[in-house]
Formats: sequence, structure tokens, C-alpha cells
Amino acid sequence: MSPALDRAIANYASSYGTQPTLVVRAPGRVNIIGEHTDYNDGFVLPMALPFEVVVAAAPRVDGKVFASSEGFEPVEFMVADPVDQGRWSTYVHGTGAMLIEAGYSVAGWQGCLASDIPAGANLSSSAALEIASGLIFVTSANGSIEPSALARVGQRVENDVIGFPSGIMDQLACAASVDGAASLIDCRALSASPVPLPGGVDIIVMDTGTRRKLLDTQYAARRTDCETAAASLGVTALRDATLDQIANLGDDRIYRRARHVIGENTRTLEAAAAMRSNNAVELGRLMNESHASLRDDFDVSGPALDRIVALAQQINGCLGARMTGGGFAGAAVALVQSNSSEAFVAELTKSFVAPDEQPAVAPTMLYTVRPAAGASVITNPNR
Ligand code: GLA
Repeated sequence: MSPALDRAIANYASSYGTQPTLVVRAPGRVNIIGEHTDYNDGFVLPMALPFEVVVAAAPRVDGKVFASSEGFEPVEFMVADPVDQGRWSTYVHGTGAMLIEAGYSVAGWQGCLASDIPAGANLSSSAALEIASGLIFVTSANGSIEPSALARVGQRVENDVIGFPSGIMDQLACAASVDGAASLIDCRALSASPVPLPGGVDIIVMDTGTRRKLLDTQYAARRTDCETAAASLGVTALRDATLDQIANLGDDRIYRRARHVIGENTRTLEAAAAMRSNNAVELGRLMNESHASLRDDFDVSGPALDRIVALAQQINGCLGARMTGGGFAGAAVALVQSNSSEAFVAELTKSFVAPDEQPAVAPTMLYTVRPAAGASVITNPNR
């Protein structure tokens, strides 16, 4: 049982005086490699985290939703009503609205949410909220939904309700991951295949404690740069372009954006091959290259991420490190030999402080994680 699962069930029991009849969970993710490639129809290689959003609930027949979440104002709404903007529940209600728009039957419910995913750390706490909400709405109506369809609905929430032009990686990682493996995802085909980690290594999530400010506007700007590059080359998406083709892109900034995406797609496929042949050293090398390309060509790293990655890369037993997710702040990820990982955590804890120009607003946290299962309905929550 995750801590969030315990709390959500306990909160339900104390709010409603009965046990929940429907419980769902949806994990956050860390992306091992394949950054800013998803909205270019490319490849990504994320894994689900052992931190999750849980909703403990019971279906209602009157179409109403009563939802509470630790530390937030409880909300009440009709699924079919217009979605209120700017609240924590916008993600929840927005998911119901996007499900209806996509033709799914949804029902109301009463429930308590709990989350163990650090918010704003680029570990996909909002995608997990969307996927958990989607499962509750659909299951309350006795229906079911395919993981890739649910991921699309989650992306619609980001794009059409919240107004953030995200790709689909986070929602797919959350909905479609399998226990014990990362997933190589083709973001054009929306297909995911499990790729186990090489033996003898740990994945360590390094949350700098800094939080993103620039992400929304800069993210949209990067997306536009990529679309500009694809349009000048006459291709559907940068997935279809080659390094030879981009040599003629006149604008240096657009050229560097395209060079990152093309290189990152190649690195991601190479990383999956390295993992499959148990070559952790090669995987680490590709992660280091990915960070340099995100920092220098795509321009989405930041002072705290650069600092923690540089420190990590110098520690004994670290095979590779890079920023993860959208960038600018939040978390990075390292690949460390298992027999060095305790010492790695101790040394990095001692040496990292966020830079003065980008102070931390949350504690710096290091988590050694193994790949968790994608979102699921917990059939027997009250064992
Ligand atoms: C955010 C977005 C994803 C993806 C990453 C960068 O997490 O939500 O769709 O684009 O940034 O790889």
C-alpha cells in the first residue's frame, strides 16, 4: 500500500462513515530519455514512479461529484456543468468534460484524493490527477477505457481546458506503464513496449527543490519553434526530418531546436537498445548527451538543474545524469551503479545547494526508485 492509498481510504472513511467502494491509483513518472520529442511525434522512454495519486470513492447516481483533497478546499459540481477555471479541481472536472466530449459515459461520485507525487517538480503530478480522475469517472459508470484513449483525454485536459500545449508522454507513461519496466513509447503510433532496466543499476530522481516559473511560456515557444522547423522542411513533424535536411534551415535558433529533437529521437532508440542488451554504460552516456543537448540546443535547462546534473556526473558510480520532464526547474534523473547508490545519495545530499539565482522553494530530495505499474482500479481496497 502506498502512503497515498492509506490516507485516501482513511479520509474517505472519516468523511463518509463508510468504506469506499471504488479506489483508483495513477503514478507520476520520471523520463529516462527522450525529452521534448513527444510533440514532434517522436520517441520517449519514461517509467512510472512509486509515487501516486489515489482516489477513494463511491459512485453516485445523481451526476454530482463531491471531491476533497488534502490541504485544498473541497468541491462540489455536476459533471455536465461548465468547468470552473483556476482551481485544483479544474483537472478533475476537466477530465470528466473531456471524457464526455470523446463519447464516454461518465457518472458522478463522492471521493477523497491523496497524492505522494511532489507537485511542480516535472514528475507529472497533474497527468496522474487526470488519469486517476478519468478512471473514477468511467468506472463509476461501469465502463472501461483503453490506456491510450485515456491518455489522449488527459492530454486534451492540458491542451483544451488548462491551456498548456503539452504532448502525450506524461499521460501515456501514467496510464500504460507496466510494473518493473520503463516504456519505449512511439508518440505517433501511441504504442508502448516495456524495456527493463539494465541489471546492477539504480534510477535516482534528484528533486532540486526549485519550481518552474518559465515552463508554460517557454514550453509553448519551443513547440512553435519545432513546428516552424517542420513546416520549413515540408515534413509532418520533426520525427520525419534528418540532420542532413536541417543543415539548410537558415535561422540558428530553429536549427538548434531541430538538431536537439532529431538527435534525441536517435538517442532514445539507442538507449532502448542499450537497455535491452544490458549495456548500462552506454545508457548513461546517452543520458549525459541528452542533458547537454537540452541545455545548449533546446535551451530548457536551468541553473539548479545544470548544477545538480554536473555534480551527479562527477560522483563515483554515476553512469549518467540529465534533467527530466519539461525542464527549467524541478527534478533531474541519474543512472547509478547499485553498489554506489547509497554513497551517491549521501555525497549529493552534502554537496548540492540550489544556486543563489534560482533558490529552492521545497526541500532537495533524492529518491532511489524502481519502475512502478501504470494506473489501475484497485478491485479490493478494503481487504
Ligand atoms: C512536459 C510535457 C510532456 C513533454 C515533456 C518534455 O512534461 O507535459 O508532454 O513534452 O514536458 O519532454
